[in-house]
Amino acid sequence: MRSLLLISLLNIFLLSLCHAGRDFYSILNVKKSASVNDIKKAYRKLAKELHPDKNKDDPDASQKFQDLGAAYEVLSDTDKRKMYDRCGEECLKRDGMMDNSDPFSSFFGDFGFHFGGNDGGHHDTPRGGNIVMNLHVTLEELYTGNFVEITRNKPVLKPAPGTRKCNCRQEMVTRNLGPGRFQMIQQTVCDECPNMKLVNEERTLEVEIEPGMKDGQETRFVAEGEPHFDGDPGDLVIVVKTMPHSRFERRGDDLYTNVTISLQDALVGFSMKIEHLDGHKVDVVRDKITWPGARIRKKGEGMPNYENNNLHGTLYITFDVEFPKKELSEEEKEEIRKILDQSSVNKIYNGL
Ligand SMILES: *[C@@H]1O[C@H](CO)[C@@H](O)[C@H](O)[C@H]1NC(C)=O
Repeated sequence: MRSLLLISLLNIFLLSLCHAGRDFYSILNVKKSASVNDIKKAYRKLAKELHPDKNKDDPDASQKFQDLGAAYEVLSDTDKRKMYDRCGEECLKRDGMMDNSDPFSSFFGDFGFHFGGNDGGHHDTPRGGNIVMNLHVTLEELYTGNFVEITRNKPVLKPAPGTRKCNCRQEMVTRNLGPGRFQMIQQTVCDECPNMKLVNEERTLEVEIEPGMKDGQETRFVAEGEPHFDGDPGDLVIVVKTMPHSRFERRGDDLYTNVTISLQDALVGFSMKIEHLDGHKVDVVRDKITWPGARIRKKGEGMPNYENNNLHGTLYITFDVEFPKKELSEEEKEEIRKILDQSSVNKIYNGL
């Protein structure tokens, strides 16, 4: 027993000794227990904030950004994270597990984010076509948020031997036809550029399904669209499409669901739990009579609001009543008459 304690103490001591290198958890500002989604979320947020293009005044900007990339690279990979937790960054380096890949482009595309969005001035440059892609997501994903990995073959321009004509344009040239006589003709003039060819490259993109995203909402990956020989590539536009759900229907930030209860519960009251999209239970308790078509509201149990995830819409629960199918005896009927004591309502009306 005592030796076991000694060994575990020794372990803790050794662990803290070899835990040299950067603290990736604090760089990403996440807990030790953070899920992969938490880590992706943290990275995505910080990468936008810490991008060197956005922090030109900070001399450490590039180092901070690299630290962030390394932290993400390690903590988003189960094997690397396990090893890092055991013995730190030095260990990973020793095993050649730090390959310094830049995860930024998988979240934002080639040209990064359109910081500030100064799109003006690019109008003369030709652009490749945009690619629009539908991404079908579940209501659960829109409720809790998720990251979807998309792998695609992207045609990328690479240098090739030889030259090609480029930057072709129409120019007016004047020809002298004799004294006082000129002719103006239009001519196509081109430059010689190094040759290029299209090579397919496999790319992984991380699309964030943010909580509360609306059906049809777009995520743009700049420069991940079709390439253009003489200009910039187009964008890849991912459009969120909601798949139908078996229990919930969404309208704006509100959710709707139907529940069938027994006639008995409808009359004497009931208490039930409805499982929500993230698995939490919504308590529904009634002691009043519930008639078919009755609707109750649960404030704050709708979808999270996209702009402010702390705000939620309303959950509307509509009840349907299932009547018993069995036959009642004469005595039972008499008892029900006594209990309900309801005079006959034979209101006949236009049912349309
Ligand atoms: C609830 O029932 C109504 C009426 O039958 C139907 O139109 C609606 O789609 C149902 N909602 C859900 C979430 O199933």
